[in-house]
Amino acid sequence: MSLAEIETEVKRRRTFAIIAHPDAGKTTLTEKLLLYGGAIQLAGAVKARKQGKSATSDWMAMEKERGISITSAALQFEYNGSILNLLDTPGHEDFSEDTYRTLMAADTAVMVLDAGKGVEPQTVKLFRVCRDRGIPIITFINKMDRPTKDLYSLLDEIEKVLGIKAVPDVWPLGTGFDFKGVYDLRDQQLYLFDRTPGGKQKAGFRVAGPHDKTLDEQFDAEIVQAFRDQIELVSGGIGAVDVDAFLKGNETPVYFGSAVNNFGIELFLNKFLNLAPPPDHIPLRDGSYLDPVQAPFSAFVFKVQANMNKAHRDRIAFLRVCSGVFERGLNVNHNRLEKQVKLSSSFAFFGQDRNTVDLAYPGDIIGLVNPGTFKIGDVLSSGTAPALRPLPSFAPELFATISCKDTLQLKSFKKGLDQLAEEGILHLFSSRTIGGGVPIIGAMGKLQFEVFQRRLKDEYNADTNLQILPYTVSRWIDRADQTKLPSNVNLVEDMFGNLSLLFDSEWDMNYFQKNNETIQLLNAPPIDALELN
Ligand code: G4P
Repeated sequence: MSLAEIETEVKRRRTFAIIAHPDAGKTTLTEKLLLYGGAIQLAGAVKARKQGKSATSDWMAMEKERGISITSAALQFEYNGSILNLLDTPGHEDFSEDTYRTLMAADTAVMVLDAGKGVEPQTVKLFRVCRDRGIPIITFINKMDRPTKDLYSLLDEIEKVLGIKAVPDVWPLGTGFDFKGVYDLRDQQLYLFDRTPGGKQKAGFRVAGPHDKTLDEQFDAEIVQAFRDQIELVSGGIGAVDVDAFLKGNETPVYFGSAVNNFGIELFLNKFLNLAPPPDHIPLRDGSYLDPVQAPFSAFVFKVQANMNKAHRDRIAFLRVCSGVFERGLNVNHNRLEKQVKLSSSFAFFGQDRNTVDLAYPGDIIGLVNPGTFKIGDVLSSGTAPALRPLPSFAPELFATISCKDTLQLKSFKKGLDQLAEEGILHLFSSRTIGGGVPIIGAMGKLQFEVFQRRLKDEYNADTNLQILPYTVSRWIDRADQTKLPSNVNLVEDMFGNLSLLFDSEWDMNYFQKNNETIQLLNAPPIDALELN
């Protein structure tokens, strides 16, 4: 394949994630975007999956019970000649590590806010990760059909709470029940929407100018006047989106709409395609950049998932292609194992359905059947592996020992422990001093423990006992520092051989640090901490 052909494919790709506080409308927006992309015939398919109507694995049933999205899936769809790769990120804060890693595979983030609630706690956390990694962010203010906060206050809130300039690119005509359309501040056209029952089809719309007489005939005079005043103020006072500032993460273009009613989605999608960058050069550890077109094939594993489907019972490793072309059957170098592997079982997923992928380009996500060969952070490449920056790691804040209730289930318990820890949903430790030889698990939130136990039971038939430990803080240490440790520390070792110290509280950690100044306490495993510094 010629470089020009690869370049054409790269340019038409957009790889993005939607970030939102739970309930802001991420699932609904996803569903509507897919509808425009023709990936699903009827809206409702994604929702049905979320609710577990077509769930074939048990832990999806757990998502249904909880009403949360635990897993991240990658969906690909085509719209107007562009290929969109949508990474779905779980909204629940207990799954933040998984979410953070998924965001590392995205080139743009769409931040969905509930117009009635504004910036919520989980929005702030996710926003920060995008910002730290320099991912440009586009804001979609959803639920405009419901009572909203004052629109200027909403923009102000984004600026004050998130510290990013918020620049509206469209402006709504009316809010709540009176929300009738969206005005494009650039082409100065007003898109008036027709309600469709349940927002199930693409919304029909008419285009009008802001001063058309038909508006006065059709809508309440007060609403039309307020709208005209507002757009005058906004057009004059705020100015157009500065694409450069957006790409640098200093500015977020703002759109208004209602996902459930399908109002403003198509306009948003068109604007998104214009603004969102295609896969670009990737910064490497040595400060140089990886060219997506010129460099040979390379990709990294950002997610591992066991038991995607009970019928298959296999583990899948999700790769983001960084450069070059992936062809099924390709022989690649595996950076960690230092050997060649043949990539013959490659898939794309839509919920539980899978299709073979024969060809993929930078920005695309591929699922590989993983018989234990691939771990999060592995780099696969034709030729020398590019030194990609490490995926973020977080020191766990919650710890417990976990043991198997029935010794007959011990073998499958151990298998489940390893496979699920490999997914990275929590950290698995062992210790000589804590827990009497029983495995220790560490997480960011309690829900991770519950899901872990439930999956061990459902997928590995292992009933378990969990004993919460009193620690709330952990820090990695360099192996070389082990000899300097006093005898009374709570030392654990993770499945990759990294050493960690556990503390009851921040105070205890600080006390330890004061008395052991030569030992460096690290926020990330030593190898990554080294690279990040
Ligand atoms: P999430 O993935 O971010 O958690 O949110 P989700 O899309 O599931 O939406 C949360 C709730 O908000 C859903 O209602 C959904 O229908 C509703 N919603 C989404 N977009 C809009 C919108 O533009 N306007 C209004 N009024 N509501 C919206 P639910 O009652 O939890 O579920 P359902 O019974 O409607 O499916």
